[in-house]
This record gives sequence, C-alpha cells and structure tokens, in this order.
Amino acid sequence: MSTQDTYRTDLADFLGINADRISLYWKGRVGLYAVLKAMGLGPGDEVILPAFTCVVVPNAILYTGATPVYVDINPNSLCCDVQSIEKAITPKTKAILIQNMLGLSYEVHEIGSLAKARGIYTIEDCTHGFGGKYQGQVNGLMSDAAFFSSQWNKPFSTGIGGMLVINHRALKEPLQKINATLVAPSFKDRVVLSALIWARTYLLKGYTYWTLLRWYRWMSNKGWVVGSSSSEELVGTTMPEGYVKGMSLVQCRKGIKSLKSLQKAMLLRKNNALKVHDWLVEHHKMCVPQPLMEDHAFLKYPVLVKDREAFIEKAEKARLPLGDWFISPLHPVKSSLVPWGLNINQYPHARYISQHIVNLPLEGDLSRLMNFLELYQNEIL
Ligand SMILES: Cc1ncc(COP(=O)(O)O)c(C=O)c1O
Repeated sequence: MSTQDTYRTDLADFLGINADRISLYWKGRVGLYAVLKAMGLGPGDEVILPAFTCVVVPNAILYTGATPVYVDINPNSLCCDVQSIEKAITPKTKAILIQNMLGLSYEVHEIGSLAKARGIYTIEDCTHGFGGKYQGQVNGLMSDAAFFSSQWNKPFSTGIGGMLVINHRALKEPLQKINATLVAPSFKDRVVLSALIWARTYLLKGYTYWTLLRWYRWMSNKGWVVGSSSSEELVGTTMPEGYVKGMSLVQCRKGIKSLKSLQKAMLLRKNNALKVHDWLVEHHKMCVPQPLMEDHAFLKYPVLVKDREAFIEKAEKARLPLGDWFISPLHPVKSSLVPWGLNINQYPHARYISQHIVNLPLEGDLSRLMNFLELYQNEIL
C-alpha cells in the first residue's frame, strides 16, 4: 500500500468510514474549494457561513465565483444558530457551512434538516474538530461533506495539511475530476516543510513558543517559509498561484505518526478542559455552556478577557503559550473586511467576541496556566 493510502486508511479507521471517501490536500482550505467546485458552485450562487471564521474560508468561496453570505454567531456556542441561518437563505443559496469552533458544534442536525428540505448542500468546517463528536455523532459525518485541517495547532498535525470527507455519493465523481487537477508540492515546499516540522518537534517548548511564533509569522509573511497563509490570501480575494495543491509524502508520513498518539492527546485535552471549566464556573466567569460540554473534544478552551492585548502581553512575559486566534471576524485580517464583503457592524456578536477572545492551551501540565488564571482573574470576563 502506498504511504498516501496508508494515511487515508488510518484516517478512515479513526472516523469509522471507508478510505475511498477521503481526499488529501496541501491545506484544509483546498479541500473546501474542491468540494465547492464538485457541488458545481459558481457566479450567482451563495454560500452561508459564520461571520467568525478564518479568512481563507470566504476566499475559497470567492475563488469559485460564488458569494459568501455571513451570519452572526451565537455568543454562547461561538457557532451559528439554525434560526439565523434560515433567515439568510435565499433562492441563490447553494451551500451552508457548519463550523466547528475550537471543538464546539451547535445545532448541526437542525441545520442539516433545514438544508435538506430546501435542496441545499451542507459542509462541516471541521478544521478544529477531528476526532470529536456532537450529540454522539462523529464530527464530519453529519453533512454532505466535511473538510479538516492538520495544520500546526489542530487536533493532530502534519505541519500544514488538510483533508475532505465526502458523505454524499453524488459528489464523488465530480470531486475525482477536480482531484485530478491537483498540482504536486514542489521540492522546496517539501524541504521547507520538513525543516519546519523538525524545528517544531525539537525546538518548540513553552519558553520558546512566543519567540518561535513571531519568527514563523515574520518569515511566512515574507514568503520565505511555507506559511499557514500566504500574504496574498490576507489582502485580497484572488486565488494564489499553485493553490489547488495535493498532499506531499512528508505530510502523510507525519500524519500516520501523529494519529497514533491522538487518542491520548484528546483525552489529556479533555481532562484539562474540564479543570479549566470548573475553575471558570467557580470564579463566575464566562465558559462553555454545560449542555455543550458532554461530547466536546476540546482543541483549546476559549475565554473572554477585558483587554486582550494586555492579557497576551502578560502571557508572553510568563512564557505561557496562549492562543490569539480569531482576533477578527475573518481571522487574522485586522484591516478592512470589505474585499470579503463583510461589514463588521452587521455582526455584533462576532465583532465583540473577536475583540475579547483568547484561547487556552490544554496540552501538558496545567499548573502554570492555572496559576496564571488565578493571578489575572480580574482580567477575565
Ligand atoms: C475555522 C477555520 N476554517 C478553515 C481553516 C483553514 O484550514 P487550513 O489552514 O488547513 O487551510 C482554519 C485554519 O486554521 C480555520 O481556523
């Protein structure tokens, strides 16, 4: 069996599906683009998505010629409600994106039923949710298709990387045609990614986190290393050259290895999340609502703070690897969101949450994190 097939089989076993439903890509966003194309989306079509996501999501929609239609999030679940989605449906709606946020899902079945009744496709954005469940069902198997990410800080990592799961049979054939057009990662792509994976494995420690993160972001901004996003993707809506790229062997090998320790890593994250949750409840802070806790496979624990910049600065001084994801409704774009058709004032929850959110790491020993929370508890909302 080829390394690619072994990796697909391992992924499929983890999800409990057949490997022929899985396609592998250079990044998760490419999987989204591929499935939108397989669904036949193009100019004149609309795709509903949360106004609290990563900018590469509306980019993938815009690259097909379709229009992103944003819906505000529910501030408790950080996901979209079925009612808000229903209001955004028009005769042009062709697909609805159901996003899993940091492991959290919400009203997935209700949104699925609504879409099915109207002949609209559903796609789960499971970039944060591999291995988790929602109401007893495996993330990624509740919609027509789902895309996943295995980028640096995702449930398991291949450096960067992504995959797509097809649940709707009719999508298989058109997807095969699109997959046949994938370009192979270049020699430089593979060498740089291997070097980054090595650096992350051997150099990334709690105390080197902030220095390495700054260095990585700076280098990827310059286009010198394989970045999570190219600078083009963060300033405009034109598809970068070589975007529709397949997965390399480097990534498959790393994925096969990472998957072996995923169950253990998930258990640790969940146990740590419960400790953080109890602390937040005890201190009367905002936390993940109890009904959503049960099946939640935490990637990170979201908390809201009064002054995010000051809080992150304190974390950096304490050498605590706090996450600064979703600092904008279209992370990480802090400038105007007009190119993506998003008027921030129309989405008050997404705006507020993106101004106050930080995410807590759930790996390893939590004692330093808990001390930090105790020390700066007045800063937490
Ligand atoms: C919500 C969300 N969707 C999509 C993506 C894109 O995933 P990838 O970087 O693998 O393309 C990300 C990336 O972090 C994300 O956070």
